[in-house]
Amino acid sequence: MLIKIKRNNELTENDVTDESVYKERRKLLKGLGFAGASTLLAGTGLSLNALAKDSDSSFKTTPLKFTKTNAKQITDKLTPEAKVISHNNFYEFGAKKDQPIEYAKNFKVDPWQLKITGEVNKPFTLDYEQLFSSFELEERIYRLRCVEAWSMVIPWLGFRLADLIKKAEPNSDAKYVKFKTLYDPKQMPGQSNRYLGGGINYPYVEGLRLDEAMNDLSFLSVGLYGKTLPAQNGAPIRLVTPWKYGFKSIKSIVEIELVTRKPKTTWNKLAPNEYGFYANVNPNVDHPRWSQASERRITSGGLFARNRIETQMFNGYAEQVAELYKNMNLKRYY
Ligand code: MTE
Repeated sequence: MLIKIKRNNELTENDVTDESVYKERRKLLKGLGFAGASTLLAGTGLSLNALAKDSDSSFKTTPLKFTKTNAKQITDKLTPEAKVISHNNFYEFGAKKDQPIEYAKNFKVDPWQLKITGEVNKPFTLDYEQLFSSFELEERIYRLRCVEAWSMVIPWLGFRLADLIKKAEPNSDAKYVKFKTLYDPKQMPGQSNRYLGGGINYPYVEGLRLDEAMNDLSFLSVGLYGKTLPAQNGAPIRLVTPWKYGFKSIKSIVEIELVTRKPKTTWNKLAPNEYGFYANVNPNVDHPRWSQASERRITSGGLFARNRIETQMFNGYAEQVAELYKNMNLKRYY
């Protein structure tokens, strides 16, 4: 993000047909009516990773079942799966879009521990299997708008962040939520090589105000396109806040801490005049080096597809979130 975006780092726009395949698969899963991956696996003696699917990298994703779909799903055309999983920002695995899929090939996510801690009455830890079995899994189709002015539409699988926070019972001192990505330089080459990792001081940290975290849109994703998350998309669990720029959607989370003070977040610390704490999608507040009025929607269209669209306030989610900021000057609190 600090690095100037180079056009030649972006994908060539090969057409793929995964949307129709995906729709068929959804029909099938709905028909089967499974409650979650663990339910599916219960009694088989298999772990999620043991059900490895074919893939061209050694990191395996596995089918994931869900029971709920959001009644108010958006109708934007989905970004093809092949693009969602190969055009990534995950600086721990390299600062160029095509590096995470390559450098995350051998990422190990099982065993995993996600700690919920801080200003709560009931701290708890989820292990790998519990990430998929502790909450009812739901599908949410959300727009993802990167601060670099490209966007995608992704069918996520996961659960409401609010459900996880409620389970921990925040106390009255809890005002913000701080998220931390795994710190493991042996597995994440960008954490030990400053050139590869874009000069970030790791671990990657993000934060939300508690009321933002409790908003119905705030989502913890454990899958996309009907399968567990690929490593490069933030396996095994990542945040998705669709009304905010993509850098808030922190990947591969190991700790969610309820805190009293506003956390210091990675991009805000690196360049406070460019990346704010709030980072709400706002076409009226430009990045100092480029306009935020429009975006390039990554679709299945060819190289010359007319895919430049106007950026919407709060990325089109104003109805659900504008209330959170009603007395704030959004030019100051960007
Ligand atoms: N989380 C971590 N830990 N490291 C990162 O570099 N990049 C962010 C966000 N989460 C990032 C991260 C940015 S800038 C964006 S746009 C989204 O992840 C991209 O998510 P995607 O690769 O799944 O599209």
